[in-house]
Amino acid sequence: MIELKKISKAYRSARGTPVQVLNDMNVSVQAGEFVSVTGPSGCGKSTLLLITGSLLHPDEGTVLIDGRDFTAMNSDDRALERARTIGFVFQRFHLLPYLTVRENILAGGVALKTPAGEVGARAEELMQELGMSDRADHLPGELSVGEMQRTALARAYLNRPKVILADEPTGNLDPENAEAVLKAFTEFAAAGGAVLMVTHSPTDAARADRQLRM
Ligand SMILES: Nc1ncnc2c1ncn2[C@@H]1O[C@H](COP(=O)(O)OP(=O)(O)OP(=O)(O)O)[C@@H](O)[C@H]1O
Ligand SMILES: [Mg+2]
Repeated sequence: MIELKKISKAYRSARGTPVQVLNDMNVSVQAGEFVSVTGPSGCGKSTLLLITGSLLHPDEGTVLIDGRDFTAMNSDDRALERARTIGFVFQRFHLLPYLTVRENILAGGVALKTPAGEVGARAEELMQELGMSDRADHLPGELSVGEMQRTALARAYLNRPKVILADEPTGNLDPENAEAVLKAFTEFAAAGGAVLMVTHSPTDAARADRQLRM
């Protein structure tokens, strides 16, 4: 489902010398597989996820998602395919502060122009599943941290993605909410999806089917 082939990336910072972060890296995650990524701070884990989600272009190498070469697409096609195929979950959630829970979740569907009724029903279903229905009209600032992450999960799931990319999704969560996220990923993979999760927690990493160390 995820196939990274010979990926290299250097950052050219404004003043310092270029930093080679990824060098000829190969990663593959099968459909139905939950893979965790661990490694020291600064080793390139977030960079790897950004490249996998085609939010960042590698200097060299190819990114295949569900058999399609994202590195070869033009930016419009890439944005559309990304919205269709990939769900992102971040440590700091990245919810829009002036939108309600429901609107934040629906924001995940804007790029696909899915009929409003269909996408609305899907959002309600996800809020139900994730225990957010009675917070639908709250703003992110009115939520607990765990509720923010569950909202972000619902947004990631809205378009029924094939791939979930998560960067320290449990980093700000209490054990109970962390467990809810890990359980959601395990179930997502069991249903045939692919999950690539960066974490600093060895116990969370061990919950994956396979662990990748950078
Ligand atoms: N935009 C940028 N310009 C220059 N250097 C960058 C940029 N983004 C990241 N880096 C450098 O690239 C390296 C890898 O960064 P990255 O964020 O991928 O690390 P990480 O493994 O996710 O670290 P952490 O565990 O702390 O989140 C770091 O040394 C960082 O300083
Ligand atoms: Mg990081």
